[in-house]
Amino acid sequence: MITGGANGIGAATVRRFVTEGAQVLIADRDLEAAQALASELGAAVSAMACDVRFEDQVQAVAKAAYDRWAHVDILVNNAGSELNRSYDETTVEEWDRVQDTDLKGPWLMCKHLVPKMVERGSGSVINIASLNGLVGFPLSTAYGGAKGGLVVFTRDMAIELAATGVRINCVCPGVIETGMMERWTDLMPDKQEAKRMLTSVMPIGRMGTAEEVAGAILFFASDDSSLCQGAVLAVDGGFTAQ
Ligand SMILES: NC(=O)c1ccc[n+]([C@@H]2O[C@H](COP(=O)([O-])OP(=O)(O)OC[C@H]3O[C@@H](n4cnc5c(N)ncnc54)[C@H](O)[C@@H]3O)[C@@H](O)[C@H]2O)c1
Repeated sequence: MITGGANGIGAATVRRFVTEGAQVLIADRDLEAAQALASELGAAVSAMACDVRFEDQVQAVAKAAYDRWAHVDILVNNAGSELNRSYDETTVEEWDRVQDTDLKGPWLMCKHLVPKMVERGSGSVINIASLNGLVGFPLSTAYGGAKGGLVVFTRDMAIELAATGVRINCVCPGVIETGMMERWTDLMPDKQEAKRMLTSVMPIGRMGTAEEVAGAILFFASDDSSLCQGAVLAVDGGFTAQ
């Protein structure tokens, strides 16, 4: 199950998982893009409309997955919503949208998918947080607060699940070339200058690709990470190494 699998990092993860032999259910509020990807990739991929902020929609997608496959091996909590606004200009509506998508959504998905993983004694959950959940940035209180919450949520769940056979880990991408990054630079007075600035803050001198993040997600999904529980992996071109 990959939330937000219709675009960006999620879509790259869907593609990578399919090449590794997985069957994938995309849960995304952008059903049109999710269905387009599913029809491109064939029978291994299905798509369902789901806004992760709402428990009834999460319950429906979890039920559909268990009705079809009897068990879910991997949950990728990737759906995310950004905000680049000062704490005092952020509206309650914007705050709630970001918290509900980036923090409540992963909790709801875990609430409705993980208990059956625990019953079965195996499963892997991968939460996609952010660089913004590890260090402070200006104009990032809503987004960084939610992503920082997701980092600690991962650790808390990891302890709660430690003896169950279910693993949960977290990937923190740096600046990655996706629609989210395009939307952010669209808001800047000079888009090209904003992209140059984003590139310059990455010690490796370039932005990351969605495929590079998908590789890290695959590692946590696979048995190669069998000893990882509550790990937080920065996939950020060296940013947090500074
Ligand atoms: N792009 C970056 O630079 C970057 C950096 C750090 C972290 N991240 C995180 O990686 C994840 C993926 O980001 P991306 O860059 O691929 O973004 P994106 O905007 O390209 O794709 C996000 C996907 O999530 C879906 N989505 C958004 N809100 C949803 C909701 N409430 N319910 C269900 N689906 C929803 C969208 O429809 C879209 O398909 C996000 O959690 C994001 O915060 C991205």
